[in-house]
Amino acid sequence: MKVLGISGSPRRGGNTDTLIHTALEVLTAEGLQTEFLSLADHPVKPCTACGGCGKAEEPCCVTEDPAFEGMIERFMAADGILVGSPVYFGSATPETMALLDRVGYVARHHNFLRRKVGAAIVVARRAGQNFTFAQLNYFFLISEMIVPGSTYWNVAFGRQKGEVTGDTEGIETVRTLAANMAWLIKRLVD
Ligand SMILES: Cc1cc2nc3c(=O)[nH]c(=O)nc-3n(C[C@H](O)[C@H](O)[C@H](O)COP(=O)(O)O)c2cc1C
Repeated sequence: MKVLGISGSPRRGGNTDTLIHTALEVLTAEGLQTEFLSLADHPVKPCTACGGCGKAEEPCCVTEDPAFEGMIERFMAADGILVGSPVYFGSATPETMALLDRVGYVARHHNFLRRKVGAAIVVARRAGQNFTFAQLNYFFLISEMIVPGSTYWNVAFGRQKGEVTGDTEGIETVRTLAANMAWLIKRLVD
């Protein structure tokens, strides 16, 4: 049983990274395998709407993009996908959406996200978090994924790197989410 934890922040070591690591620590303690993926290290190009993924054996036709290499395989190998994004102008980051657009469109043709567990974590300085949280959940739900909850929506607040650790309710919400994700995956995966 494995969870892929993706930080969609372009800022290494920032608040989103912290929240994803917080969740992965709980999942590891629950006995699941985890992988952390930073899109700061893998700045994938956006989908070009060529439609190649619907026709070809190749999973995606945007070639010459080393950052995308292995992404489809990572999603396929995971039982759970955790996606974290900072709020940028009321939305998820372009890095986050570039990855989700491309993997999601391939998955629509090859149907490999169905019944995996998906969860979103969002960090904001002040506002826009609810829209961004919904934006990421739209992705999971159209992909036939199953979404666990927490004691609040999975949102935490902070601006400068590390500030999010001061949001104790946000951190606790993320830890509960991770525990519920582990509980769900254990029941879905034999
Ligand atoms: C381009 C840009 C746009 C942002 N837009 C918003 C916003 O709409 N609402 C908000 O509350 N914070 C906004 N922020 C603040 C970030 O969401 C906040 O600093 C967050 O902690 C960054 O996460 P990170 O440390 O993982 O990069 C914005 C930051 C940047 C750089």
